[in-house]
Amino acid sequence: MDVQSIKSRFGIIGNAPALNHALEVANQVAGTDLTVLIAGESGVGKEAFSAIIHALSPRKHNPFIAVNCGAIPEGTIDSELFGHEKGAFTGAVDARKGYFETVNGGTIFLDEIGEMPIGTQARLLRVLETGEFIRVGSSKVQKTNVRVIAATNRDLLDFTRTGKFREDLYYRLSTVPIRVPALRDRQEDTLLLFRKFAADFSDKYRTPGIQLDASAQQMLLQYPWPGNIRELKNIAEQVSVLSTDRVVTGTALERFLPQAKAISENLSLPAISSLSTSQAGQEFTATERDILYKLFFDLKRDLNDLKQALFGMTGTPNGPVPETMLNSYPAPPNGGYAAPSYPTPLNRLPSAALTPVSTAAHEDAQEVEESLSISDVEKELIIKALRKHRGRRRDAASELGISERTLYRKIKEYDITD
Ligand SMILES: Nc1ncnc2c1ncn2[C@@H]1O[C@H](COP(=O)(O)OP(=O)(O)O)[C@@H](O)[C@H]1O
Ligand SMILES: [Mg+2]
Repeated sequence: MDVQSIKSRFGIIGNAPALNHALEVANQVAGTDLTVLIAGESGVGKEAFSAIIHALSPRKHNPFIAVNCGAIPEGTIDSELFGHEKGAFTGAVDARKGYFETVNGGTIFLDEIGEMPIGTQARLLRVLETGEFIRVGSSKVQKTNVRVIAATNRDLLDFTRTGKFREDLYYRLSTVPIRVPALRDRQEDTLLLFRKFAADFSDKYRTPGIQLDASAQQMLLQYPWPGNIRELKNIAEQVSVLSTDRVVTGTALERFLPQAKAISENLSLPAISSLSTSQAGQEFTATERDILYKLFFDLKRDLNDLKQALFGMTGTPNGPVPETMLNSYPAPPNGGYAAPSYPTPLNRLPSAALTPVSTAAHEDAQEVEESLSISDVEKELIIKALRKHRGRRRDAASELGISERTLYRKIKEYDITD
């Protein structure tokens, strides 16, 4: 299959040479059983690449599962991946198969491999080299035939120097390395992607299509996109749902992308620069600014995770919740808080999301009464979502409107094995 057909079949947008090259390598390696290491910043499409490689491989009719090594608690990851025997640890009331057993014949995508504990790395190396593994608490060696695709947004080679990652495993994994380029390094694709996402979201939420004027386009091109395509997609969703005018100007876009305004005006951040060693009043270099944006972005993500966890505690919303709502609300340009007013699609949100925590506690009594049926429905929904996304937890979580961590917790809680 040529790269152009892969793009249309898997909805991959973009024409940047680095992206095309990455797709070519993915295409070439798909038919083999070689281990692939996909490197790239968060949100560039690493998981999308893993799904493409599996779908183009002879294993395509066998299971594919995505495991986020960074989201699984260190104490359970061995048992998740390799299974355990009854009584292997406190709480192991039954024996359980791990992914390397259930996915036999298929592909496992190990996301955020740099977060894998060093003990698990030893087990992984063994299964990669010999196809052998042992359940936690067992002494019986078992065989499996699983193809591994790993991904990282870290500098794994650097991790090997500090002892955080096994060097032998690093070389074993990077048989075929694929680097997915950051969005800021393929500017030419930014507007293409935005148009595609905006059109998709207008369809999904049944809002009229939007268009960007020249200044808005310029703003998207100049913005460094620390969260890459995932961030661009979120912005496209927010703008598609929340924009009052269908032609979006630069000024209107600032509401959704306040950081972009700072860039276009080349603002320094005086309050923070006083903390740096540079002279007072001196502006940040481009790299310093990049790092700061990354920091802000990470903070924002943590905040989102917290919000999603709150969703998890106050009950799962019915129906699709726009990803927008799991994102920070667009900040007003003055940086202060102003209660945003939302058009209809957002009214489907559970009121808890917008109510202060103190009043949510009020409803505890009612919730206890209903919790049984809610949890049944919830379990059902989770199973459905997992099935629909063929075990890909990130996608299932995103569809359910909860964080991967929350989904993980619920899978455990409901003992969902699929
Ligand atoms: N080239 C692309 N064209 C269209 N959508 C893309 C492209 N690359 C990534 N995406 C979308 O961007 C989002 C983030 O991609 P993902 O694979 O989860 O990134 P990563 O695993 O690198 O964090 C997903 O919704 C994915 O479908
Ligand atoms: Mg990812």
